[in-house]
Order: sequence, then structure tokens, then C-alpha cells
Amino acid sequence: GRRITVRDVAAAKERGEKWPMVTAYDAMTARVFDEAGIPVLLVGDSAAMVVYGYDSTLPVSVDDLMPLTAAVVRGSSRAMVVADLPFGSYQASPQQALETAVRFMKEAGAHAVKLEGGRRVLPQVEALVSAGIPVMAHLGLTPQSVNAFGGYRVQGRGQAGDELMADAKDLQAAGAFSVVLECVPAELAERVTTSLAIPTIGIGAGPSTDAQVLVWQDLMGLTARPAKFVKKYSDLAGEMDRAVRAFADEVTGGVFPSAEHTYH
Ligand code: KIV
Ligand code: NA
Repeated sequence: GRRITVRDVAAAKERGEKWPMVTAYDAMTARVFDEAGIPVLLVGDSAAMVVYGYDSTLPVSVDDLMPLTAAVVRGSSRAMVVADLPFGSYQASPQQALETAVRFMKEAGAHAVKLEGGRRVLPQVEALVSAGIPVMAHLGLTPQSVNAFGGYRVQGRGQAGDELMADAKDLQAAGAFSVVLECVPAELAERVTTSLAIPTIGIGAGPSTDAQVLVWQDLMGLTARPAKFVKKYSDLAGEMDRAVRAFADEVTGGVFPSAEHTYH
């Protein structure tokens, strides 16, 4: 079969169909999500936290994310794989954005890229779209701006909501194929969703967006203190704790390996 494309996500909005997106950072989880029918996989710069152990997304580099992106592409066969452009890899100029995005497409095999920001990154979005690179935009709580925001807090309340709406419309006009709305009031996300022809992808943005995204470690219950917007669909931390303790007990007790796991 073929991969999901930007045409498929556009058609889903026309049909009023909602869809799920999850992050992935390696081949085996990508395969599980791909086989479950998740249409879009995001290699998020959230890898800074969940893969590399930093406490924000700022430290992660293109070289850090490139092999993860390549692994997710190799591990999937149907999903569209979106590569997040990390902090500092696109803000300087449209040319910098193009060089970075081209690396993700050519070397890692990504099918689209995502970058954060509104009108200040329009020249970057236009340069990528002109080069034939599908761009997913990202508004609201854009974690690469955490220092400017003074923390991880809800964005787009009051007057800022009109600014966000204007950003969203301009990003659509610049050719973005979708826009992530992170940590914004549900009422604003609903207004943006009905005002745009391109799909909105919500995270902490209420129920009205065209799609929903979660970091997979959050939804699986691996994250220690997840945000209010996270729903835990599994308790992987508990399950992994149980399993590794059982292994440890059987090793120290001389129970593992038994005959069935032994060669002669
Ligand atoms: O990096 C990431 O995981 C993201 C999503 C949460 C949208 O940007
Ligand atoms: Na991100």
C-alpha cells in the first residue's frame, strides 16, 4: 500500500473525519502505531525530553533528531512521517529553514516537516512550500519559546486569541497543510478549526480540532507527571516495573533461564 499524504488529511477534513497523531522516535514503536492505523507519526523535538533526558526541547539538535526520524520512516509503511525542526535550525532565515528541512527529507526520508511560530516564520513556511516540502505549523504553547513565555502555560486567552487566529490564517495562506494548536482554550481552537480549510491538530486544545496528538510516552503512562491535557490509556511504567522486577527476581533466585530457554 501507499503512504498517507497531505491530500488524505485534506480530504478527511472535507469529510468531517477526525484523526489521531502520535509521536514516535524509533522503529519498533513506529511499527506498532503504523500497524494500528495511525495515519501521521510525528518525530517531535519532544525527543529532547523523552529520549535524551533534557528538561526542555531547546537543547536538541538536527543531528540528534535525524537518526530517530530515519528509524521511524524505516519502521512504518503507511503513515506520513513528520519531522519536527528543532530550536535554532530554522529561525535565522528562510534559507536556513530550507537547508534543515531538505536534510530531514533527503537524509532521513521524512515526508513533511513541522516548525513553531506564527507570522514571524511566514518567510520560512513560504520557502519550504515553494520547494515542495509540506509544512505543519504549530501555534499556542510553542515549547521552543518557553523562556519567552515564562513557563509552560495556556496561550491565546483574551486579546492573544485574535493574534493566534490571524497567525493561523496567515500560515494557511502561506501554504501550511495543517496546524498544531497546543494548550489553548477550547473555544479558540474551535473558532480556528471552523475558520480554516486546513486541519487543526489539538493537544490541550479541547475536543473540536480536526485531529488530536499526544506524545506516546504520555498516553501510555510512562511520563512521571503528565500535563492536565494528557489521558493515560495504559500504565506502561507500572507494567515495565513489574516485568523488570520479575526478571531480576528470577535471575537472583536462579529460576531464569529454565530448560525451555536453554540450548544444548
Ligand atoms: O514535539 C512534540 O512532540 C510536539 C507535539 C506534542 C505536537 O511538537
Ligand atoms: Na515539538
